[in-house]
Amino acid sequence: MVTTQDITFNVIAGNLLKTAADALVVGVGKGADGPVLLDSPLPADAVASLAASLEGLGVTGAADQVVRVPGLAETGAKVLVLAGVGKLGNGEITEEALRRAAGSAVRQLAGLAHVVMALPTTSVAQIAAIAEGAALGAYQFDSLHSSKDGRKAPVATVTIHTSLSKAPELATALERASVVAAAVNATRTLVNEPPSRLYPATFADAARDLAKGLPVKVTVLDEKRLEKEGYGGIMGVGQGSARPPRLVKVEYAPAKALVSLAFVGKGITFDSGGISIKPGAGMITMKCDMAGAAAVLNAVLAVARLGLPVKVTGWLCIAENMPSGTAIRPSDVLTMFGGKTVEVLNTDAEGRLVMADGLAAASLEQPDAILDVATLTGAQVLALGHRTAAVMGDEGVSAAIKAAADRAGELIWPMPLPEELRPSLDSTVADMANIGERMGGMMTAAVFLQEFVGAGKDGATIPWAHLDIAGPAFNESGAYGYTPKQGTGYAVRTLIAYVEDVVSRAA
Ligand code: BES
Ligand code: MN
Ligand code: ZN
Repeated sequence: MVTTQDITFNVIAGNLLKTAADALVVGVGKGADGPVLLDSPLPADAVASLAASLEGLGVTGAADQVVRVPGLAETGAKVLVLAGVGKLGNGEITEEALRRAAGSAVRQLAGLAHVVMALPTTSVAQIAAIAEGAALGAYQFDSLHSSKDGRKAPVATVTIHTSLSKAPELATALERASVVAAAVNATRTLVNEPPSRLYPATFADAARDLAKGLPVKVTVLDEKRLEKEGYGGIMGVGQGSARPPRLVKVEYAPAKALVSLAFVGKGITFDSGGISIKPGAGMITMKCDMAGAAAVLNAVLAVARLGLPVKVTGWLCIAENMPSGTAIRPSDVLTMFGGKTVEVLNTDAEGRLVMADGLAAASLEQPDAILDVATLTGAQVLALGHRTAAVMGDEGVSAAIKAAADRAGELIWPMPLPEELRPSLDSTVADMANIGERMGGMMTAAVFLQEFVGAGKDGATIPWAHLDIAGPAFNESGAYGYTPKQGTGYAVRTLIAYVEDVVSRAA
């Protein structure tokens, strides 16, 4: 049995009659000639009659479809649920299809307490994907409703039915699934918190709280220290707000570390645009502008919880971007950490200003690689839509990120860093301007960030990749699969998978 913050997993094999539950979930795939009932522990006559009624029930096998029918006498579950896993390919059902089906079912079955999952499994990885999906699908952000009336409580217990219940690696795999899902869910909650509650000081407090009990050192640089140590980007962006900025350093440094990594996250707790103010509609989702920092924080904590032999340092660059009499103006010049000067031509291009300080500070420690995660540009959403992030930078690191994301079940696509964009960032009065070529603006922003990545131990530029997660960090439309509305927790799973891959390559 493994328990996360709000879900308990059991694993069983054999007779379904013995398990009393509110619902039993079996899978249906979308085959070439209609719906296909997937392998399940249901008795043969029940399978035959169900298979014959699928079309009549309107069951298609499409992803996210959840159809409830009365429970069968042969099982201890009150309701039988036919959950779609989507199009069937030639081979096995993918881990991601199982993760989504389990997540979608658990999400849509909110209000029931105990659900048995009898999706087909032939590997421990598939069981773990089902557990991860279920824990992600059970997520709810409900701390701000004044009453529970009319709201359905999340599923509390999930029993996974599988013939592999005695596999020796199962306990570790379920523990990992539970740690990963809890990290994603904690990220969602930080993003969902309104900016009246989550602002730089309280975000830093949350980092300290979440790290409690883990072998992780959290250092918070307040505005006095940021000023004294020359963090001009973070201070500049934060100076228009009544709530001063923070830089939070989260270090996990196990003695057995094989490699050292730095993660840098954009933590704008609200992006109004500043003096270059956003139109009203464009501001509505801007509490999500700290999603990169939230993902970095929870990924580092998850790596620590999993005890992976890698040193990981998270740098959370936190500020609130507000217009006011003390705010930066277009044409102000900031001196960034490390001494480079930047002319601010648009105060809404604030993410790159705080990230520049974070990248420069992270570089001083000469890690083996730097990853940064930021809801950096609207152009990212224009280029790749709402569900796919972009990765830019060192080709090797980008390819490793793409591979990690594929394994984790997150969508990401590599984009170039065209050299010719650099002159568009030239400034007449300073080393650089904070805006440049508008076409391909996602890449212009990345070219800006690249200037702040320093040299490593060998004198060469530290291998670096930039993840622009402006699209997938926040779900403005309806819930799907294991993804809720609002904060998605995007990038946490990719970062953890990347660290695991680094470990297997180094070992
Ligand atoms: N936080 C925004 C980017 C964003 C947009 C994130 C939509 C999520 C969804 C960022 O700070 C921003 O405002 N970028 C500007 C840059 C421009 C002024 C060069 C943009 O993309 O419009
Ligand atoms: Mn902005
Ligand atoms: Zn922003």
